Amino acid sequence: MIRITNLSKVHHRGETEVAALRGLTCEIPSGAFTFIVGPSGSGKSTLLYLIGALDQPTSGDIEVLGRPLSKLTALERDRFRRDDVGFVFQSFNLLSNLDAVDNVLVPYLPQGIAPSLRERAISLLNRVGMGKRLHHRPNQLSGGEQQRVAIARALLKQPRLILADEPTGELDSATGAEVFAWLRQLHAEQNGTVIVVTHDHRYIQPQDNILKLRDGRLDEAPAA
Ligand SMILES: Nc1ncnc2c1ncn2[C@@H]1O[C@H](COP(=O)(O)OP(=O)(O)OP(=O)(O)O)[C@@H](O)[C@H]1O
Ligand SMILES: [Mg+2]
Repeated sequence: MIRITNLSKVHHRGETEVAALRGLTCEIPSGAFTFIVGPSGSGKSTLLYLIGALDQPTSGDIEVLGRPLSKLTALERDRFRRDDVGFVFQSFNLLSNLDAVDNVLVPYLPQGIAPSLRERAISLLNRVGMGKRLHHRPNQLSGGEQQRVAIARALLKQPRLILADEPTGELDSATGAEVFAWLRQLHAEQNGTVIVVTHDHRYIQPQDNILKLRDGRLDEAPAA
C-alpha cells in the first residue's frame, strides 16, 4: 500500500510559485496496476516523481513499502530509487553511445557488472522481444524498441514499484498498445505495483485502479 497524506508541492519558477499538489490524500493498493489521469497541469508527473523520491514534497508525506519517505536518510533515499523503483519516461532516456544491453545495465555500470547481471539484462531484452537488437544503439532502434529497452532497464533490479510517465506519449497507437501489453504481462509475472500516468484512456482496463487528479487534488466527481 502506498499512503499519501496531505501532500503538497509548490514549484518555484523565478518569482512565481506554482502549487502543483494541494493537500492530496489517497491510497494506492500494492500489486495493483494504477493509472494517474487528469488534465494537463493537474499534478500527475509531480505526484509520480514524489512517489519515486525523485523530488521532495513541500508538506505532507508518502508511505511506500511500509516507510514514510520523509524519514529516509539521504543514503536510504538513493537506495530506494536505485533498487526499489523502476522508472519509464516518455522520452525513453537512453544513452545514445551505449547499445541496448549497456543501456539496460546503466544504473549499475559505475559498480562494474557481474556476468550474471549481464545475462539477466540479455534475458530481459529477449523477454521483451529485443533479442535480435542487443547491440543496436538507440538511433538504430524504433521508438517502440527504445521504450522496450527502457522497460527492460526498469525491470533489471526487480523493483517492487514501476513508475511510468506517459510511456506511450511518443509512440503511435499500435506501438503504444504493444508497450502496454508488455507492461501488463511483466506486472502479472512480477507481482509488483505499477503506476502509469497517461492521457490515453484507451489503455485503461476495468480491473485497473484509477487515480484522477484535478488542480492538484483528487477529482472525486463521477466519471462522465
Ligand atoms: N519544475 C517545475 N517548475 C515550475 N513549475 C512546475 C515544475 N514542474 C511542474 N510545474 C507546474 O506544476 C503544475 C503541475 O505540473 P505537472 O507536470 O505535475 O502536471 P501534469 O499533470 O503532469 O501535466 P501534463 O499532463 O501536461 O504532463 C503545472 O502548472 C506545471 O506548470
Ligand atoms: Mg506530466
